[in-house]
Amino acid sequence: MKKALRYLLSGFAVVVLLIGAGALFIQLRGIPTYDKPVLQQSVEIHPQRIARGKKLATMLCAGCHMNAETKRLTGKHMSDAPPVFGEIHAPNITQDKTYGIGEWTDGEIIYLLRTGIKRDGSYAPPYMAKLPHMSDEDIASIVAFLRSDDEMVRASEIPSVPSQPSFMTKFLSTIEFKPLPFPTTAINIPDSTDLVAYGRYLTVNLDCWTCHSGDFTKLDVMVPENSYHFLAGGNKMLDLKGKELLTMNLTPDKETGIGNWTEEQFIKAVKYGMKDGEPALRYPMMPYPQLTDYEAKAIFAYLQTVPPVNNPVKRSSM
Ligand code: HEC
Ligand code: HEC
Repeated sequence: MKKALRYLLSGFAVVVLLIGAGALFIQLRGIPTYDKPVLQQSVEIHPQRIARGKKLATMLCAGCHMNAETKRLTGKHMSDAPPVFGEIHAPNITQDKTYGIGEWTDGEIIYLLRTGIKRDGSYAPPYMAKLPHMSDEDIASIVAFLRSDDEMVRASEIPSVPSQPSFMTKFLSTIEFKPLPFPTTAINIPDSTDLVAYGRYLTVNLDCWTCHSGDFTKLDVMVPENSYHFLAGGNKMLDLKGKELLTMNLTPDKETGIGNWTEEQFIKAVKYGMKDGEPALRYPMMPYPQLTDYEAKAIFAYLQTVPPVNNPVKRSSM
């Protein structure tokens, strides 16, 4: 009996030791590293691409990389990132060769945006956007914009503040979050005359669905529709004061979603943050004035086609 207990205890000690060693390994090694990208691709820069890229980057990148003081993409502290991720700073992605991404090739930028693997092979955790569903042309437009002489991306000698990812981020990046596969076939933008298909493209690529589905930890990045409570809201966010608020249900459910909204109400809310003369959106949802009415209309048309989910989301108090 005593012997059995002793075996049990030493077995337990071994398990504790192994877990400790694993944790120490993860803590010291940090975020995993993969093969360095070898994508040879160069993007032709022309005014149409720069304009499209600026519009996309304003909606998709500026929220994190834009610095209010420099008015350029010189990076900033992401004060609203959930503290469990650690201390996160978005880096300088202007054209500066030392402090920005002036030395990155077009292929390296594209590879990062698709997979999450950076130039040196290290993995950018989920707090950096990834664009697995965006069309090749739209990705090329973002790269063209980053290379353009637009004021937002002009070389700025401002050092990035390194992020301090938490143990949790390192742990999850080791076992759970993996780089996304690089697309093996061409991705095209759906014909904009197909309102619903175009609306899905925008809903997916402007990331409406990640915030507006039920839970960040239950997203299916490769097949958005398989996410828990797809577009049905209830996902927890932080406002600028660190107070929790929930995302709204955007499915066409009449009682708990936006099934009773008119197209006009929707377009005004999404573009200007106003509904019936009242403020309709709150941080971290930023209005999208960059969208054309047609694009907002397409998103609305698509949202009306997703399966309605009866999910009452209590609007957080102001
Ligand atoms: C939610 C915030 C967020 C968004 C949105 C975002 N980024 Fe980032 N980005 C980050 C953070 C944080 C890092 C640093 C990641 C790390 O530490 O590995 C980063 C890293 C990068 C890097 C690597 C820079 C370097 O020096 O290592 C590039 C390039 C980049 N982002 C470009 C973009 C582009 C282009 C977009 C828009 C399509 C974008 N990012 C959207 C937060 C964001
Ligand atoms: C960063 C997360 C985030 C993103 C991205 C986002 N939203 Fe939101 N959205 C929210 C939050 C949070 C609210 C609720 C704000 C509140 O409590 O008033 C909201 C509210 C809304 C509302 C108002 C709903 C209501 O019932 O009042 C609409 C409509 C909406 N979002 C549409 C969109 C669309 C369309 C997109 C993509 C183009 C989008 N959102 C992208 C977080 C987000």
